[in-house]
Amino acid sequence: MKVLFIGDIYGEPGRKIFLDHIDELKAAHKPNIIIVNSENSANNGRGITQKFYKELMQKGVSAVTMGNHTYGQNELLTFMDDSHVIRPINYKAAPGKGYDLIKFNSQTLLVINALGRTFMNANMESPFFEIEKVINEVKADYVFVDFHAEATSEKVALGHYLDGKVSAIVGTHTHIPTADERVLPKGTLYITDVGMTGPLDGVIGVDKDIVVNRFLYGYSLPNQVAITKNQLNAVILDLKNKTIKRIHLED
Ligand SMILES: [Fe+2]
Ligand SMILES: [Fe+2]
Repeated sequence: MKVLFIGDIYGEPGRKIFLDHIDELKAAHKPNIIIVNSENSANNGRGITQKFYKELMQKGVSAVTMGNHTYGQNELLTFMDDSHVIRPINYKAAPGKGYDLIKFNSQTLLVINALGRTFMNANMESPFFEIEKVINEVKADYVFVDFHAEATSEKVALGHYLDGKVSAIVGTHTHIPTADERVLPKGTLYITDVGMTGPLDGVIGVDKDIVVNRFLYGYSLPNQVAITKNQLNAVILDLKNKTIKRIHLED
């Protein structure tokens, strides 16, 4: 079972580089299932619109994971129940679902999204226990986790906690790719962060001057998506043969 996972699609630049390259990525890597993190894909970098959700489906995406910006677009509430959008499982009582069961031929892939708590929103259930509950309740041939978290320590710790219990854990949220893709000791594929899909020369997607000024003076204009060269960051995983490789493109 080959899975192509695309890291956080950010704003119009992220949507464009994704749409420009997804066909060639499919041809080159022949994934059985495509999963994208789309928490930043709307124009302001927050949430997802129904229009882009439909474009993802048309391109053959099977599941759309989210993160702390899940509810950035109100319109999500009008279509999420009827969609493959997966919000973090450890939100206490938020609309939507925290996992999805995808079928490919006669096999099943359980896709779970979870949010970290360290340096993030502490008012969440434990991602460790909530993921464990689902994998004990929902039977599937393979399990894929998008762990949307800030702290590398929390991500590596979850990797070891779930090692041997899930097929793969990929990190998202920091927008910076890490070079630690590996097979953990008990066989789980792991990477701390896949990196983002969007502007290359902003600060994690935002116009660089706005963010630099915020660090210099403590305030700045509201965030705007950077207009620069673009990047696409992804991983291709073979869940059966246990391989994980990074993909990086620039336009
Ligand atoms: Fe993000
Ligand atoms: Fe995020």
